[in-house]
Amino acid sequence: MPSSQITLLGIPGSLREHSFNRALIQAAVDNAPEGVAIEMFLLHDVPLYNADVEAQGDPAPVARLKRAIVEADGLLLATPQYNGSVSGVLKNALDWASRPAFESVLAGKPAAIMGATTGRSATAKAREDLVRLLGLTRSNVMATPTLGFANAGEAIDEGQLHAEDVKQQIRELLSEFAVFVRGHQLAEAAD
Ligand SMILES: Cc1cc2nc3c(=O)[nH]c(=O)nc-3n(C[C@H](O)[C@H](O)[C@H](O)COP(=O)(O)O)c2cc1C
Repeated sequence: MPSSQITLLGIPGSLREHSFNRALIQAAVDNAPEGVAIEMFLLHDVPLYNADVEAQGDPAPVARLKRAIVEADGLLLATPQYNGSVSGVLKNALDWASRPAFESVLAGKPAAIMGATTGRSATAKAREDLVRLLGLTRSNVMATPTLGFANAGEAIDEGQLHAEDVKQQIRELLSEFAVFVRGHQLAEAAD
């Protein structure tokens, strides 16, 4: 049966200390609605995907990532936009997590998407690509709404999100995602 408390794994797709995307995840942790708890997972230790290494067994950071995904009720991803798409850091982590293909820890896992950039794009292309990419892994992605922020430097300073309107948008996304995750859990329980 679905539990009333939902636990999400928040993954920023940037390694930068004062990353705007990490700040979005931190703001989600700090502003989660009642009944939603979010744990942040940083990708610094995840090596580049290598099928030869995988064949010897998942490296410890990859095993940790996969376990954290299994234990979470859903994923909250925050991606930068790099050259019109998802950051390599996030893509690499999702490539590891997507193995074995179609039966991975991502299969059936609810996922919500945010993105922040210093540019004007608001990460629209990166978020679109992330929806498509997660679909290929058979994740249960909430394709809409996703949340994108342009000119992130105006709302985020030294890794801290100050803008109240942005915090409110994050709260609204999380509330919608909580409904999405609970619906997913009910459907699973009915199976
Ligand atoms: C290699 C590279 C490519 C980028 N390409 C884009 C882009 O296509 N569109 C965009 O809006 N911003 C682009 N940016 C700006 C990043 O989105 C911006 O640096 C963002 O703050 C990175 O995320 P972070 O703050 O979480 O580290 C690019 C930055 C880099 C380093």
